Parts: sequence; structure tokens; C-alpha cells
Amino acid sequence: MVGKQITKRLLLREFEENDWKDVHKYASQPIVCQYQPWGPNTKKESKAFVEQIIVDSKENPRSRYVFAIIKNEKEKLIGAGEINIRDFKNKNGELAYIVNPDYWRMGFATEAAKLLIEFGFRELNLHRIYATCDPRNIGSSRVLEKIGITKEGRIREDLLIKDGWRDSLLFSILEQEWKKN
Ligand SMILES: CC(C)(COP(=O)(O)OP(=O)(O)OC[C@H]1O[C@@H](n2cnc3c(N)ncnc32)[C@H](O)[C@@H]1OP(=O)(O)O)[C@@H](O)C(=O)NCCC(=O)NCCS
Repeated sequence: MVGKQITKRLLLREFEENDWKDVHKYASQPIVCQYQPWGPNTKKESKAFVEQIIVDSKENPRSRYVFAIIKNEKEKLIGAGEINIRDFKNKNGELAYIVNPDYWRMGFATEAAKLLIEFGFRELNLHRIYATCDPRNIGSSRVLEKIGITKEGRIREDLLIKDGWRDSLLFSILEQEWKKN
């Protein structure tokens, strides 16, 4: 079990089985998954997603750390964020996040991403954390820019999504860069 990561407005906590209902509220919407290989989810898929998170959290060694993004006020689940350790030896992890559209453009993804990066470096001892996003996903690129992640470049056609092969922008932050801020 990992500790809760907290700011004034939100906290990140581990997923519980019942969370699938709040996950489904956003994961069932086409606008949320337009740049993703999955979705829009059926109820069954949202349930399976949360079940898999819980199964993965019990793996040893554990590589997947998914947190529910909880708005402090009324304890509402408004999204999810994760760090996946992609390479234990070289201490590389991947960052991802998603927010319910009812709460877009309020700074929640930026705040959650900062907490996840702190968790990745402080608790998981990572050396490099990277993130990718669709070049059309302006919101996600802005989040990464705002938290001070460096854009490394563009990966060509690495992902097959609903409207065909897509490029990805690649961003990363290193342990020493995070420590400086
Ligand atoms: C990308 C996403 C997580 C952004 O969440 P959010 O909580 O709205 O992000 P923030 O409020 O922290 O916004 C950060 C910046 O991006 C801007 N922004 C957010 N969405 C935007 C959009 N669709 N178009 C242009 N700018 C956008 C905000 O205005 C803000 O910039 P500012 O401070 O200069 O005004 C959210 O749109 C989402 O969940 N999308 C679907 C899933 C997804 O794409 N996840 C990322 C996978 S790579």
C-alpha cells in the first residue's frame, strides 16, 4: 500500500472496486478517449479496468501505480493518474492521466501530474519519467509543458487508434531536473 498524495484541492489514493461507477462517467464519453486506443467504454469495460488496476497493484514486484484523483470537497472521484515502471534496471517510468470533462481546465490534471512525478522520484526512486501524447492533444501537451517536462521529439506512427496510425509527442523529466525545482 502506498500513502496518499495530497494537495489543498485534491488527493490521490489507490483504487477501490466501487470506483468503476465514477470512472465510467468519463470513460464512456467519446471526447475523453478520442486520442486513445480504447473506449468509449461499456460498463463492463470500466469495471474490468478497475478490477485490473487492483490485480496489478498486488503484483510483486509492482510496476503499476494507478491513483484515483479525488477532489477533496465532497470526496469526489474526478479522474485517474498513473505511473508505470517500464524498466526497473534503468529506473524509467511512464506518466499518464485523465480527468472527467466536467472538471477540465481547472488545473486538476496539472496538479495531479505534479504529485505523480513527485511520487515517481521520491517513492519509486525513478531516474527518468516520460509521457507521450497525441500531437493534436493540446490539453495534454499544455499539462506537460506547465509541469516543466522537456519535449524530446516526435515518435512516428507508434500507436493504432480509432482513426488510424498516430504519431506521439515524447516528453521526459529527469531526477536531477525535478530536484532543482
Ligand atoms: C488532457 C487533460 C488531462 C487535461 O486536463 P485538465 O484538468 O483540463 O488540465 P489543466 O486544467 O491542468 O490544464 C492545463 C493547461 O492546459 C490547458 N488546456 C486544457 N485542456 C485544453 C484544451 N482542450 N485545449 C487547449 N488548452 C487546454 C489549460 O487551459 C491549462 O493551460 P493554462 O493554465 O495556460 O490555461 C484532459 O483534457 C483529459 O483528461 N483528456 C482526455 C484524456 C487524455 O487525453 N489524457 C492524456 C493522455 S496523453
